Amino acid sequence: MDIRFLGQSAVELIDGDTRILVDPFISGNPKATVSADELEPTHILLTHGHQDHYGDTVELAQRTGAPVLAQVEIANELSELGLETVHDPNFGGTVRFDWGWVKLVPAFHSSTTPNGTVSPPGGLLIMVGETLVYHLGDTCLFSDLKLITQRGNHVDVALVPIGGHYTMDRHDAVVACEWIGADAVIPVHYDTFPPIETDAQAFKADVEAATESKVVVLAPGETHTVR
Ligand code: NI
Ligand code: MN
Repeated sequence: MDIRFLGQSAVELIDGDTRILVDPFISGNPKATVSADELEPTHILLTHGHQDHYGDTVELAQRTGAPVLAQVEIANELSELGLETVHDPNFGGTVRFDWGWVKLVPAFHSSTTPNGTVSPPGGLLIMVGETLVYHLGDTCLFSDLKLITQRGNHVDVALVPIGGHYTMDRHDAVVACEWIGADAVIPVHYDTFPPIETDAQAFKADVEAATESKVVVLAPGETHTVR
């Protein structure tokens, strides 16, 4: 499986003909290297409703017909906006697909969509074939990260916010990585805007000194292949 980083928290998980797009903030993303028109997702997943995650969801789903998975209040908004295939789990819920499954888990943050829908924010455990990707969404460091990752399947790849200000910073993120125990960590949600500028290489050095995890720093547009 390939993981293509698109800037901020947007990633595309590509496995054969399956292209799972998470948090597609492309239009208005100063770090984006593609336009939303160039993306052809087969599925869209949202961690929460903030614009820097919700992004181009409605336009992409309308153009491609990709089903969208989001926490139930956001899913209801998307249905009311006319999207036909919407999955609406709440925390603890697992939605199965022909390529695997997605479990919605808590995050410690806030969430309001650009249209004003208030909903609790989440993270996503995404099993694609035999590979488990944990997209933390936006969150501070909170101890349930241990519970989420220490029961159930081993996390192969974790997408961890490190920019601070709106989420955990790179120092708290090292502790999160100690708890998660992923084989690979990809830092996200940094350097997109001045308040969340940070040193991803210092984060990499700190995590690799403290844990067995390998940190893969991707520039927007770059791809990491999971073996
Ligand atoms: Ni947010
Ligand atoms: Mn955010």
